[in-house]
Amino acid sequence: MKAIILSGGKGTRLKPMTHTVAKQLLPVANKPILFYVLDQIVESGIRDIAIIISPETGGEIKKAVAAGPGWDAEISYIVQEKPAGLAHAVKTARDFLGDSRFLMFLGDNLIQDGVKKFVSEFESKSADALVLLKEVSDPRLFGVAELDAAGKILQLVEKPKEPKSNLALVGVYLFKPDIHRAIDRIKPSRRGELEITDAIQELLNMGDKVESHILSGWWLDTGKKDDMLEANRIVLDDLLKRDVKIKVGAGSKVEGRVAVGEGTVIEGSTVRGPASIAPNCKIINSFIGPYTSIAAGTVIENSSIHHSIILENCRISDIEHLTDSMIGSSTTVTRRKSVSGPVRLFVGDDADIEL
Ligand code: DAU
Repeated sequence: MKAIILSGGKGTRLKPMTHTVAKQLLPVANKPILFYVLDQIVESGIRDIAIIISPETGGEIKKAVAAGPGWDAEISYIVQEKPAGLAHAVKTARDFLGDSRFLMFLGDNLIQDGVKKFVSEFESKSADALVLLKEVSDPRLFGVAELDAAGKILQLVEKPKEPKSNLALVGVYLFKPDIHRAIDRIKPSRRGELEITDAIQELLNMGDKVESHILSGWWLDTGKKDDMLEANRIVLDDLLKRDVKIKVGAGSKVEGRVAVGEGTVIEGSTVRGPASIAPNCKIINSFIGPYTSIAAGTVIENSSIHHSIILENCRISDIEHLTDSMIGSSTTVTRRKSVSGPVRLFVGDDADIEL
């Protein structure tokens, strides 16, 4: 069994953040989303992995993976020249995949409890494909499955205007090589992409067996700002363990499940978990509230932050109540005049904001 991770595409829905960073590298609880995906694939026992990258952000992804913690797997890269669709990405990986069964994992998706059980289930079954489904509140944003009373898939439609169910296709798929034949038979969709949803529908039309599994745990598609904050909240809640690698000085408090990296200084401040603070930050006379992740090298002074993601090397000064925000790397947020009430920001890299 092999795996492909789709990390190409443009990430337009996360602009301005993805002007400068691949969306699969945006951090959730201070770890890139792509690293969770790699962890889960390796945990499932698959050792032969290819990451599909775009010419624009591929270099950055290779660099991040090379600098990562290391995985017990052979990781290769395949460039997809244009984001021409998920099925097009599979076509691009054709030589790598050969006649193997494979797991396809979208590099911006996170699921609770990993993929191990689905990979073993698929290995032991005769189905040609296994898809994961999850109930969502707005199915129009996803591929949607219609099932019969016995749970058998009747039809799959990509981003339907009038969805027949609230069951979205999760970005984790298992295929036998027959999917390549189905992909060869489909045409680009209205949005001009070769859709994997259409290819799976084609498998059904060809009489192949497509099984589905409805996820009970959480699933996060980190495509938009609020999804990122939600992903950060859920992962901090679910996976974070207390791990404070520094000596917290008198006058400061670190309460609950908080991770603090080496070289970070906390002075005159309170950090209340769940929260993650990366190495080499400075937290001075501040309050860091629950569901906050602060990346390496960031300085927070005389401020209060809650339910936010702050990327590397930022400086936040004198902000009384920063909440529900995502702030790109090397950004400065300072206050001159008095600002009352909460501040909510969604700012890309290298910005300079004076309130
Ligand atoms: O997240 C689940 C949804 O993912 C499914 O419900 C949909 O059926 C499926 O089409 C897909 O929809 P999205 O519109 O969310 O896909 P997106 O364009 O965001 O791409 C998902 C990932 O695949 C992302 O990491 C970028 C990568 N990608 C995308 C395209 C279009 C590629 O590597 N190559 C591509 O050509």
